[in-house]
Amino acid sequence: MLNQLEELKLNALQELESINTVKELESWRVRYLGKKSNLTKVLRSLASLPLEERKLVGAQANQVKVDLEDSLRQKERVLQETRLAVSAKKERIDVTLPGRPFPRGRLHPITQTLYEICDIFVSMGFQVVEGPEVEWDYYNFEALNIPKEHPARDTMSTSWIHFETESGENPMLLRTHTTSVTARIIETMRPPIRVVEPGKVYRYEASDATHTPMFYQIDGLVVDKGITMSELKGTLYEFARRFFGESRKIRFRCDYFPFVEPGVEMAIECLVCDGKGCRLCGNTGWIEILGAGMTHPQVLQRGGLDPEVYTSFAFGMGIDRLPMLRYQIDDTRLFYSSDLRFLRQF
Ligand code: DAH
Repeated sequence: MLNQLEELKLNALQELESINTVKELESWRVRYLGKKSNLTKVLRSLASLPLEERKLVGAQANQVKVDLEDSLRQKERVLQETRLAVSAKKERIDVTLPGRPFPRGRLHPITQTLYEICDIFVSMGFQVVEGPEVEWDYYNFEALNIPKEHPARDTMSTSWIHFETESGENPMLLRTHTTSVTARIIETMRPPIRVVEPGKVYRYEASDATHTPMFYQIDGLVVDKGITMSELKGTLYEFARRFFGESRKIRFRCDYFPFVEPGVEMAIECLVCDGKGCRLCGNTGWIEILGAGMTHPQVLQRGGLDPEVYTSFAFGMGIDRLPMLRYQIDDTRLFYSSDLRFLRQF
């Protein structure tokens, strides 16, 4: 009997060695320490043994029970620890892993150009102002000497919001040029005025390589006593020199805009062929970049400024053209197609 107990203990401990899961451990416990286990049977049968044997076997069996229970608890601890260690390993943060990339954005080439233009004018004492993109017919046309039926309206295909209001007056539109802001400034600011007015403008036109229904312009306005054509030329020369470089030739020619008198157009020597003539400049050697002129006395008067006291010059240009010329981009739609392969180059 004593040998049997000893053997039982050895078997049990040996089996315990190879146990790796809680489930296996529980079945081991049932087999060796449970109610139906051989050890329990031995302990139950003690009463039927003769006294001497009962003492010996009883002591031995109890000792085996204590030993197996100790080993069981120890194994439980070991399993518990390895379980913790495994889950800790799973959750561990590897600080040596490289971080997720966080790409840095950049300004759109048109925004960059706009900022650059504004910086140049701000350094010359101009203030940057903005106006609404949804505009009254009055500020976009009427106040600028472009009444209904005026042919100049035909040159600016307009997106109307209300062509006729109920009373038949003051229709609304998407502004076709930022000169509408000039009309508003003449009404609201008092001289000396030196402002630039950047923003989006809209034309009801199909897109192609040189047209989009929305694009950017910047207008400028100077009103003060004694402003003459030489202030206009000096200011725009300086702008062109800073934007296109010292050596770029500049040309002024007469042009017509209803809200200025006289009106001019400014061109720069072609950036591609340096004035020799190429496809970009249509073999003329020159590229027109802006319209300007001495603000029409009627426009000043309508805004409440006395043209006998104050004189004024104004100018306006498309912004999209400038990065196109500078980087030789041949399709204006690229600016608005959100193609990162294009945009990342700037
Ligand atoms: N608004 C004109 C256009 O979109 C450009 C222009 C010409 C603006 C002469 C002016 C100006 O302020 O004086 O074609």
